[in-house]
Amino acid sequence: MKNTIEAKNVRPIVLTGDRPTGALHLGHHVGSLRSRVAIQKTHDQTILVADVQALTDNGRDPSRIRSNVLEVVADYVAVGIDPALTSICLQSAVPAIARLGALYLNLVSVARLERNPTVKAEIAQKGIERSVPAGFLCYPVHQAADITAFLAEVVPVGDDQLPMIELSNEIVDQVNRLAGGDILPHSKAMLSGTGRLPGIDGRAKASKSLGNAIPLGASRQEVEDAVRAMYTDPDHLRMSDPGRVEGNVVFAHLDAFDTDVEELTELKAHYRRGGLGDMVLKRRLMTILETELAPIRERRAEAIRRPDDLMDLLREGTRRARLRTDATADMVEDALGVMRL
Ligand code: TRP
Repeated sequence: MKNTIEAKNVRPIVLTGDRPTGALHLGHHVGSLRSRVAIQKTHDQTILVADVQALTDNGRDPSRIRSNVLEVVADYVAVGIDPALTSICLQSAVPAIARLGALYLNLVSVARLERNPTVKAEIAQKGIERSVPAGFLCYPVHQAADITAFLAEVVPVGDDQLPMIELSNEIVDQVNRLAGGDILPHSKAMLSGTGRLPGIDGRAKASKSLGNAIPLGASRQEVEDAVRAMYTDPDHLRMSDPGRVEGNVVFAHLDAFDTDVEELTELKAHYRRGGLGDMVLKRRLMTILETELAPIRERRAEAIRRPDDLMDLLREGTRRARLRTDATADMVEDALGVMRL
């Protein structure tokens, strides 16, 4: 018994999260869900359902975010996150994150926040410019609070989150300087081996809000329709024409899911030469995705049928999260000389 507790203490601390703006999709799966499942036995992992962060661009519609929380928890269970190994918690129910976020906001300039490339791209995509909600511009600061509240060292995320981790480490440096010692650890992104999954329309990122992603719970028919609609090479008109592999959404998906690397290399060469039709590749992808998604779909449906169980595991994960993050916020406030009563 003593051994297991000691063993637990040396497991690297992992924190990651998702905004519950909708059910999760294949992009999340490739970008970070797979790594989270892979490391949960060897790491001390917490996953945050980031409902407060989701409000930063849905501030007038909290009930929509709320209604997606259990959808996301069901996605976690469906892909194989084991609540006995990984704590799943609700961000809005972890007050230490708000406490740390309030402190950190004073350590970061507006100019620094405006330089964040991911936030910049999101603001551009929404076309909101200067009317961007203050909370949205500041969400990376709260994300630093998410990460540091757990004293996390490892953050499994997609590459769009690298600027958040960079900022988090800058804040860590500032806090440590003010505290006169290394009270908070730096964190590192854990990126998936495969690159970012593009949207089915060929846009750089698969995203729920752009409507170009395949949800994890998609039916067989929905998956097939999505694959059929996938952007390939617009100049590949006749089967005999040479085709382009780069920027081809079907190949991007095959790269992420096809385990027969040798045959895939063959197919790419054939496609480039000409003589290989899109539909052959699409049928191959349909079969592979169906194999991947069928068990996930089944477990997801099963999980959604038991919302009380999902609530229970979220409550338990949140209880554990509160214990450890309250301790961090107390420690940081003490170290910085904030009054505590
Ligand atoms: N910003 C992340 C995303 O959009 C979600 C997130 C919130 C997160 N808090 C986090 C990721 C903490 C890693 C760590 O996907």
